[in-house]
Amino acid sequence: MPKFVKPILLVLPLVAALLLWGCAPAVAPSATATKAPASAGGGPATSSSSGLSPAGEKAAAQVPAAYKGKKSPYTLNDKAAIDAGEKIYRQSCLTCHGEKGDGKGPAGAALNPPPVNYSTSEQQEHFEKIQDHHFWSISEGMSGTAMPPFKGLLTEEQRWQVFMYEWQLGKASKM
Ligand code: HEC
Repeated sequence: MPKFVKPILLVLPLVAALLLWGCAPAVAPSATATKAPASAGGGPATSSSSGLSPAGEKAAAQVPAAYKGKKSPYTLNDKAAIDAGEKIYRQSCLTCHGEKGDGKGPAGAALNPPPVNYSTSEQQEHFEKIQDHHFWSISEGMSGTAMPPFKGLLTEEQRWQVFMYEWQLGKASKM
């Protein structure tokens, strides 16, 4: 029986993270979610100093210390970085995340949960404001989803480059 208990305990906070990320606030929050007020301040209804939506606040609060506050060293004007990111994306991400970053890659549509659509205003907000969450996901993968970890395959620089490409792709698909 302990064989089952351990993996379940490991997976629980991540499942909670996913539910929150997927805007399913009706489900009881786990220990992870109770950390949210740390960055949300006192007033639940008011927008915080970060200007994030409540879902964004919760996602931001889940980022582990090792990734907390990390920001891309590149900007959306950095063509060289985005071009480098595109190469990585085509090789390692497109089958799931799709040509347009809408999660409709050949392997993406069948996944549960499917990869999110990067062009929504919510996702665009997250690219801008919770970069540490994305970088964490790209580095460590997302338990409970098909998202694999890339820390051992891509350098920190490459992970940021592909992040920039995804951001740009979502922006472009919007227009
Ligand atoms: C096997 C399919 C698969 C591959 C390959 C894959 N992803 Fe994902 N990815 C997913 C799924 C499923 C999710 C979970 C749903 C979501 O949040 O999009 C996810 C989530 C993410 C997120 C969510 C970020 C967040 O903080 O919520 C980012 C960023 C991401 N992937 C980037 C990448 C990058 C970059 C690559 C390539 C280097 C990649 N993915 C490769 C399936 C995949």
